[in-house]
Amino acid sequence: MFFNNSCCSTILLFMNKINAAITGVGAYVPEYILTNDEISKMVDTSDEWIMTRIGIKERRILKKKGLGSSDMGTKAVINLLEKTNTLPSEIDLLICSTVTPDMQFPATANIISDKVGIKNAFSFDLNAGCSGFLFGMSTAAKFVESGNYKKVVLVGTDKMSSIVDYTDRSVSPIFGDGAGAVLFEPTNENVGVIDEILHTDGAGRVHLHQKAGGSVKPASHETVDAREHFVYQEGRHVFKHAVMGMADVAIEIMKKHKLTVEDIDWLVPHQANMRIIDATARRMGLKRNKVMINIEKYGNTTAGTLPLLLWEWENKLKKNDNLIFATFGAGFTWGTIFLKWAY
Ligand code: ACO
Repeated sequence: MFFNNSCCSTILLFMNKINAAITGVGAYVPEYILTNDEISKMVDTSDEWIMTRIGIKERRILKKKGLGSSDMGTKAVINLLEKTNTLPSEIDLLICSTVTPDMQFPATANIISDKVGIKNAFSFDLNAGCSGFLFGMSTAAKFVESGNYKKVVLVGTDKMSSIVDYTDRSVSPIFGDGAGAVLFEPTNENVGVIDEILHTDGAGRVHLHQKAGGSVKPASHETVDAREHFVYQEGRHVFKHAVMGMADVAIEIMKKHKLTVEDIDWLVPHQANMRIIDATARRMGLKRNKVMINIEKYGNTTAGTLPLLLWEWENKLKKNDNLIFATFGAGFTWGTIFLKWAY
């Protein structure tokens, strides 16, 4: 067999290619369960409306005063390190995806690192709304693929109850609190993050945002009185974009990698509304038995959603399973990742 120089170097490059694999999952959800019946006592709604229009039965709430997103994130990371027999000192980088940081600064990632005892790493936050964990997966993978970072922790944590107006019936049933974390490590095997398609459209910000508390409109008596520190969402508009955005990118990545419905083992979709999940799966041609769904129990935990799904499904996953992640969220942000499960 004859190889020319460029052919040899291509083969060598392929053999030495570093992929970023998920090698463990940890999570934490608070104990308190907020039911639809309890929400029906706060606003004019019903279990039947919420189940039919959204698909959520209950969600978890971090009740205890003085606790924030970092406390849930810390528990998720400790769970991850215990499960993977990893010492805090071995971690090179910790990224935290969140829209509900403990405070404006410093980063919640820094606070989690401190609480866990991670001393040899740098850490930073990433905000991409409900696509935060997906964009974080892309970012963590790049650090690992560079060859310079061996153990990268990605945490998704959100205390959505801190920015939900429990007098607004169009928002209060949707969100819950929770956190999850994964470990990314390098491998030369053909597993881990294979490809991605990521998008943002800042024009979408008018339909989904938090009006006050940033530099444009700092907190004041007026902003508090006007209830401007809560999620503002034009639900119908966001719904339409979410259905189109998630399905379009998922189909695009399937076509790019010539993946048939049979090739896909699991769709891992953001959990904002059961109708959005069903519409995405339907357009991909997937049956529900190939879709990870836990919206009924946890609602939309924003950056916590994807790792909570992996945490629950971890025992069912097999090496080389093909996973398609798909998300849509505030920004607008949306995207998909094709990942081969590594264990
Ligand atoms: N109970 C009873 N009625 C309600 C409720 C409720 N909880 N909420 C709204 N309604 C009413 C409305 O007032 C409206 O009544 P009207 O026709 O008399 O005005 C009617 O129901 C229909 O309202 P819609 O907003 O059109 O309801 P829709 O079926 O679209 O459901 C929802 C609303 C659940 C918000 C849906 O639009 C949705 O899921 N949107 C997408 C959410 C999403 O994906 N967000 C992105 C991630 S979030 C992030 O990034 C932080």
